[in-house]
This record gives sequence, structure tokens and C-alpha cells, in this order.
Amino acid sequence: MRLAKKATAIALASVMAMTLAGCSSSNTAATTAAATTAAAETTAAATESAKEAATTAAEATTGDVSDKKVGISIYKFDDNFMTLYRTELVRYLTEDLGFKSENVVVQDGKGDQAEQTNQIQNFITQKYDVLILNLVQASSAPEITDMCKEAGIPVVYINREPDAAEEERWSSEGIAATYVGCDARQSGTYQGEEILETSNKGDINGDGKVSYIMIQGDPENVDAQYRTEFSVKALTDAGVEVEQLLMQRGDWDQAKAQQIAQDALNQYGDKIEVIFCNNDAMALGALQSIEAAGRKVNEDIYLVGVDALTEAVQNVIDGKQTGTVFNDHFAQAQAAGDIAVKFLKGESVDPVNMVDYSKVTQENAQEVLDKLK
Ligand code: BGC
Repeated sequence: MRLAKKATAIALASVMAMTLAGCSSSNTAATTAAATTAAAETTAAATESAKEAATTAAEATTGDVSDKKVGISIYKFDDNFMTLYRTELVRYLTEDLGFKSENVVVQDGKGDQAEQTNQIQNFITQKYDVLILNLVQASSAPEITDMCKEAGIPVVYINREPDAAEEERWSSEGIAATYVGCDARQSGTYQGEEILETSNKGDINGDGKVSYIMIQGDPENVDAQYRTEFSVKALTDAGVEVEQLLMQRGDWDQAKAQQIAQDALNQYGDKIEVIFCNNDAMALGALQSIEAAGRKVNEDIYLVGVDALTEAVQNVIDGKQTGTVFNDHFAQAQAAGDIAVKFLKGESVDPVNMVDYSKVTQENAQEVLDKLK
């Protein structure tokens, strides 16, 4: 696995900014109208199977991807994890796979599905060759998939998994669409195991049960649902009794999580033994409130997150976060890039492509941090 170098990432961030600057939304209405016409014109060909679409793409491919255009839309740029992911994605496409920088365009969905759908329509109108999409709402996948299918453009969904029925449809109807991500059940289980691996299995006050608060990501997102469920399940499967004091959505956001943790610490005080956060950004927020409340992680409260943001991994080393789970954005970005190329070459692609998570605890945190830097 090749890890990005910091300098490269910064250089790419500016390439991306330049690319984006050249992509203003001033003609959005015009391009949207054009997209509608184009969509109508292609409706007749709507039944064309994905294999045909992929073959068409392959015929147009000379084996050299440098002239191929990749349209990427990220659900919102203002997300710590997705920022690492998109930086690696652009680096990998341009440096390792040979796409020209000007042919790799990344758009900010700004957390607004209507806006993102417009961006995708523009990519279609401008005849992009393949799309890599991190949807604002995974539930929009059927509509977006159909738009891409009608235009004969393959699509690689990343990070926010469409539901199983939609993924099955890609196989059964031969649609050139796929998902690259991680099985969030695994990350939830690892979080629970990290609590089980502590000296008192999470029961700091020895009352026979683990009392916790759960700070969720966006609950529409399967990552949030599974991490919430499986972190606690790991405890109950091991025969540990649990008590949920509070579960609240923090939308993956540090500031929101800080507020939730602050209120919970005020309300429940020492009763809270564990704070589960669906991601590290929220664990960083929770830590601010834990410290402000005069509590000490690993002594009188445990705290776990997911992602392995460098700051969180450093906190694990310093004993300020009990553990995290590496959400491997390098492997995911590289898999997404490789699969985009497979589509362009007309090769067959599995509908679901999963990358493994791994645990990050005090034992291996320094090793993980060295890899991340
Ligand atoms: C990450 C979160 C991120 C979310 C975005 C999750 O897999 O763990 O940090 O905010 O994806 O969809």
C-alpha cells in the first residue's frame, strides 16, 4: 500500500483548488437544462445494459487513461475524513494511474443532495467518462444510477453505501455501478472490543454494568447505524451488561459532539463510564468536554472513535483517547481509482468492494501514526 506524502498532498490540494476554480457554477442552470435534454434523448437507450455501457467505454479507451475525464463529487468538503480521502484519491488518479490533473474534477456537494445531483448532471452533460461519487444521501443512489446508466457512464460510489436492493439491481440488470467502502459492522465491533480489552472491561465503577453515551454520525448513514449497533453488541455478546444513558446524533461533527458530551457530562456526571463516538472528529469534540469537566480518559472514563485521524491517534498514544479504528482512506481511494480504470477498460467489476478496518490501541498507535504521516 502506498501512502501519500504530506508535501504531495498539499500540492494536490492546490491543484484541486485550481481545478475547482475553473469549474464555476455560474452556468449551472444552462447545463442543467442541457442535461435534461440529453437525458430525454438518451431515454430510448435506457435499457442498454451496463456491460454494453462498460464495453462502449472500453472501446473508447486506447489503454491510456490520460485523456479520460473523472468526475468526483464529495458529500461535503468540510469533513475531516473525506478531506483525507479525496486528497489521496486525486493523488492516486493523477500520480499513479496517469490521469491528467485537468481531467480530474472534484466538486463539493455541500451537504445538499439537490446541489450534488446538479453537479452530477453537469458531469453527464460534459461527457465525463467515469464518475466517483460520495453521495449526500445514499438513498439517492437509484435515481443517480439511472441517470448515469442512461448516459452510459459507469459510476463508483464511495463511503456512503447504497442499500442492498440497489446493489443487487446493479448485478441483476447489468448496470455499470459499484460500491467501494468498509463494512461498518467491523469498526463497531472493534470499538466494543477496545472497551472489553481495558482492565475492567469498561465497568470503571464496578457496579456490574457499563454505562455509556453514544454520539452518532448522521443516522441516515449505514456507517453510523452499524457502528452504533455493533460497538454495544460486542459488549453484550461477551456477556457484559450495558446501560445506555444517552444516544444523540452529532452528524460526524466535532463541535456538535463537544456540546452533546458537555451536556451529558453535566447531566450524568460520574455515571458515564464510556463515550462511544461514531468517528474521531466527534471523539475530539467529546475529549474537549471530558477535559473541561476535569475527567481523565483511561482513568475515570473511556473514549473511542473511528477513522484514525492523526490527532486522534496521537491522543491514543498520549492516553487521551482509549482507542480508534483505522478507516483506511488510502486503500479505499486506491480501490476506487483502480475500479474506475477497470470500468474504462470494460473489465467486469464486483458490485461491492470492501476494505478492512483495523484496531488502533496504545500498543500499535505509534506504528499507525508513522504510516499516516
Ligand atoms: C467516517 C466519518 C465521515 C463519514 C462521511 C465515515 O466513514 O468515519 O468520519 O464523516 O464517513 O460519510
